[in-house]
Amino acid sequence: MGAPAAASVPLAAILAGMALGFGDSLVAASFNSGWYQAVLVVHLVSAVVGFGGSALGTVMLRRAWTDGADAAAAVRRAFEFASNRLTDMAAYLAGVAGVVAVLIDDRWTFRQGWVTTAFVLYFVWLGIAHGALRPTSAKLAEAMDAGSERSRDAERLRKRAELWSMANNLVIVAAIAVMVTKPGL
Ligand code: HEM
Repeated sequence: MGAPAAASVPLAAILAGMALGFGDSLVAASFNSGWYQAVLVVHLVSAVVGFGGSALGTVMLRRAWTDGADAAAAVRRAFEFASNRLTDMAAYLAGVAGVVAVLIDDRWTFRQGWVTTAFVLYFVWLGIAHGALRPTSAKLAEAMDAGSERSRDAERLRKRAELWSMANNLVIVAAIAVMVTKPGL
């Protein structure tokens, strides 16, 4: 999937959200809620693409690993491509849309516990993604590209990446639970 296709995903989400939101605003004459719903659609679609897409990398790599070095290298490169072109952007957009949703709806403030928790979890996810998963993946890429012989180092790094990815998936499960239950409200 190329950059134009990647860019069309958030655009399609915005258009779909606006269609839903303005449909409602025509009926209920509430312009504000139309924008809010559009932002929420962007928040949710980008969360699905960003966090869901990111969750797949190490699982796909584990499967390809059993098919040999070439298959694993191809899957690793494909996942790197998808991250750079689509899922990373979507994950950032999910955070931005969440902040915008808080800003434009009078019910939410940045002093509410559930909003703070959402922030913390989001930054934990980003921290693990950038501070642990990405460096591990870079080292893994080096180890895998070093030669056709699968090194013990590559195996160790693949397992480490898998652990970090699992940790991040748990962070996202917690974030979804916080969003849905809004503790403290
Ligand atoms: C910067 C961090 C974030 C902020 C400020 C934020 C903010 C919000 C806001 C204001 C809503 C609307 C609540 C409502 O109208 O009931 C929402 C909904 C939601 N968010 Fe986030 N969010 C953030 C991160 C995340 C993350 C990391 C996820 C994980 C996937 C997520 C998943 C959801 C879900 C599933 C909903 C729908 C909840 C519902 O409608 O009951 N959010 N978020």
